[in-house]
Amino acid sequence: MKTRKTQVAIVGAGPSGLLLSQLLHQAGIESLIVERTSRARVLERIRAGVLERGTREALIEAGCADRLEREHIPHDGLRLFFDGDEFEIPVADITGHHVLVYGQTEITLDLIEACEARGQTIFWEEPDAELADLETSAPKLRFGETVIEADFIAACDGFHGIGRQAIPAEKQKTYELTYPFGWLGILVDEKPVSHNVIYANHKDGFALASMRSHTRARYYVQSAPGDTVEDWSDERFWETFKDRIGDAAKDLTTGPSIEKSIAPLRSFVSEPMSHGRLFLAGDAAHIVPPTGAKGLNLAVADVRRLSRALIAQLTKSDEGPLTRYSQEALARVWKVERFSWYLTRLLHQFPDHSEFEKKMQRAEYDYIRGSEAAQKTIAENYVGLDF
Ligand code: APR
Ligand code: PHB
Repeated sequence: MKTRKTQVAIVGAGPSGLLLSQLLHQAGIESLIVERTSRARVLERIRAGVLERGTREALIEAGCADRLEREHIPHDGLRLFFDGDEFEIPVADITGHHVLVYGQTEITLDLIEACEARGQTIFWEEPDAELADLETSAPKLRFGETVIEADFIAACDGFHGIGRQAIPAEKQKTYELTYPFGWLGILVDEKPVSHNVIYANHKDGFALASMRSHTRARYYVQSAPGDTVEDWSDERFWETFKDRIGDAAKDLTTGPSIEKSIAPLRSFVSEPMSHGRLFLAGDAAHIVPPTGAKGLNLAVADVRRLSRALIAQLTKSDEGPLTRYSQEALARVWKVERFSWYLTRLLHQFPDHSEFEKKMQRAEYDYIRGSEAAQKTIAENYVGLDF
């Protein structure tokens, strides 16, 4: 076995792991990253693209925001449609903040290039990583013929990673809600139908209109459980999408999809987010439904908090922030889980909804439309809660 020593061993080279390594580096702390798959596969992933103000701040702190600052598209509102009615919440007017459109794939590329530019070691295509000695002062990450001895280990390895599984079952509690639908998403190289994001609740199902640039649109429709991409031809998608966005379809330019995928919707939280010298961040600890675009932004909030706690410990021997990490991170996680669950419940067609529950959805929509207080609540969550 070949032994490598570092201060922080990171499992996963997704946005969480890459950003953590970069933020630690900015404070002079060394890390090593072990990634199951290839660089190319990581960059092939199509994910969300609406950033909270805190995510922009984190990328600026990490020294990786140059392209983001040049290329992002600011959005000042969100449009809520409900069976033909629509209104827009003026998010920037209410909060003084915009959200930024900039694809997660671009963030991941910016982070990978920053890591490579400074010579950060990323062990790509290492699928057999194992964790050991997590409750000692010398936790270990083993893969292949290598063992990494670290001061701390960060599991940034997503929902299917090994970090969460390394916490003893008797010390872990999970909470989960699976929604009775998925999202079918497409990318299309046409002018987006709307500048601000459209969230539409139609009697036949949800639809969302977003963008990646002024010439690349990102659209989704609610799909039935068990649906596969093969069930959704472009023609079926466009017919469904036009129907669900109603009058806005008059501005729609359709075209061939360049990417098409289906994502299940779930809410999931695993407590605690630490065990011994192992710390979880991002999808490794929690999942939100994409309604509200919180997945990446919540992962970044975890990483900002964890990086500051590790820096306090490793540069000032201040163990307080690390001791409080799980509790403080979860306080935000649950608020963001609530917002994502709330929007999902408001905007989708649930197969088992009674007529009364359908009336409740409509009443909630009408209440928000007429209430500055309700719109302020949604706006402050949409731009991102104070860090
Ligand atoms: N060993 C090494 N790497 C692993 C392992 C493992 N056993 N298991 C998973 N990984 C890697 C995955 O291949 C992936 O590259 O960990 C990374 C986890 O990345 P994400 O799943 O993207 O999670 P995270 O970095 O927290 O980012 C959260 O990404 O999935 C979206 O919606 C999510 O927007 C959110 C964001
Ligand atoms: C996206 O642009 O992919 C997006 C936007 C808003 C959401 C989810 C996804 O709520």
